[in-house]
Amino acid sequence: MTEFLLPFLGRMHPVLVHLPIGILLFGILLCFFPQNGKNALLPSIRLAFLIGGIAALAAGGTGFLQYQWEGFAWEDVQLHLVGGVITAVGSFGVYALVKNAEVTTKTRVLALVLGLILGITGHWGGNLTHGEGYFTEVLPADLQSLFGAAVQPEMGPQLTEETWENAQLYAEVIQPILNKNCKSCHNPRNRKGELDLSSLAALRKGGEEGLVLTAGDAAHSSLFARLLLPKEDEKHMPPAEKNQPSKEEIALIESWIKGGAKESGTLAAAGISKNQIERFILKNEIPFYPTFALAPLAADSLAGLKEAGLFAEAVESGSGLLKVSCINLPSFQDSDWKLLESVKSRIAYLDLSGTQVTDAVVEQLTALPNLTVLKLNSTGIAGNSLKKLATLNNLKLLYLNKTGVNLSQLQALSSSKSLEKVFAFDTPASLELATSGKPNFPFILEAGSYSLPKLATDSIVY
Ligand code: HEC
Repeated sequence: MTEFLLPFLGRMHPVLVHLPIGILLFGILLCFFPQNGKNALLPSIRLAFLIGGIAALAAGGTGFLQYQWEGFAWEDVQLHLVGGVITAVGSFGVYALVKNAEVTTKTRVLALVLGLILGITGHWGGNLTHGEGYFTEVLPADLQSLFGAAVQPEMGPQLTEETWENAQLYAEVIQPILNKNCKSCHNPRNRKGELDLSSLAALRKGGEEGLVLTAGDAAHSSLFARLLLPKEDEKHMPPAEKNQPSKEEIALIESWIKGGAKESGTLAAAGISKNQIERFILKNEIPFYPTFALAPLAADSLAGLKEAGLFAEAVESGSGLLKVSCINLPSFQDSDWKLLESVKSRIAYLDLSGTQVTDAVVEQLTALPNLTVLKLNSTGIAGNSLKKLATLNNLKLLYLNKTGVNLSQLQALSSSKSLEKVFAFDTPASLELATSGKPNFPFILEAGSYSLPKLATDSIVY
């Protein structure tokens, strides 16, 4: 019958903490009252520190119970708790000083220090219950930045022309959409409908009405279904007077749920088309490809390439640089390189994915001075001569998914001054990462979800 008692007492903590704060502040203030020789307020001062100490003990005790029953993490509460103990001990200390004596300078200094500790402890406690930004949050943005609180408007998904297919659907698209449209009301501090949409783990817990997500079934996932309700419907999300997500954003949430609401997986794997994400692609402010005067090629001069089955066009309208792809020519092999000889200096984007090329082609690639994007996915590249690519001064993106490359071969690319990102999913390197942890390369390596701990379910074959 009495098992409710301890948690109930724990909940009294937020009420009780105000007692030591009020009483001790009062006592500290009295120590500084103007006085002629003798302090007539001495009995009140003694009482204030005695009762203040007892109140601090009561607050600390209930605080400890609250920590025990309410699932706070020790790392979060430890400083607050230690501060509480020092406050209680300090109160009794000051009481002992004045119990049989006058208020001296020493007493006043100690009382001030006690006040300072009290303030800091209270502040930490406030952060625990209200969150760190409690006060600054309500201030106008420019005042917030004055107080050093970083104000970051939620931007939604931000993809790039060159890498969007390899972006993670959940982490780089869905969560940013939720952050932009929903997080202001559904976050750990402000959980409208008892729903937190700031992380996948929280989202999966659901809200007041239960789960909000049924993987594979968008129509029965209120996370999506509520967005489609007519605006006048009181269950419509976000509330009618608020900014509404765009049609594309809603469609992406739908695709994600239909595809199983998975935590990892790229846009390409989810079958997302470029149309669906076009509006989230950032326009390159810094020119992506090398810029210099190179007259655009006449269309008919590409006829030879096209005849051979290659795809070729200018990387951007008006540019003399070329995008060449062998996507329709899977038989392309090392010896077919001669097809490309004539346009060597113009190739800025080369896609040899899915062809028969091997490590031998790397030597040829080093003769492409403007090569910026190189795709060698699903080829026979084993990585042995990979380091030669580091000599390409314009190479920014390198795709090596489903090839034989390993980590030490990738490391050899570290001397490149231009390389920004290397993709190596489904390679020996991604396996190595699973055990070795994140390497420290000067470029970003995307090779798998190696930060995830291995779960027992990973080995279940569906
Ligand atoms: C302006 C505040 C606000 C915003 C923004 C907002 N919501 Fe809500 N949401 C609420 C409130 C209030 C409730 C509780 C009342 C209700 O259930 O309708 C709620 C409830 C919900 C629920 C039901 C939870 C449950 O189990 O009861 C879902 C699902 C939901 N919101 C989804 C969303 C999604 C998705 C977005 C963003 C696209 C969003 N909300 C944006 C205020 C908001």
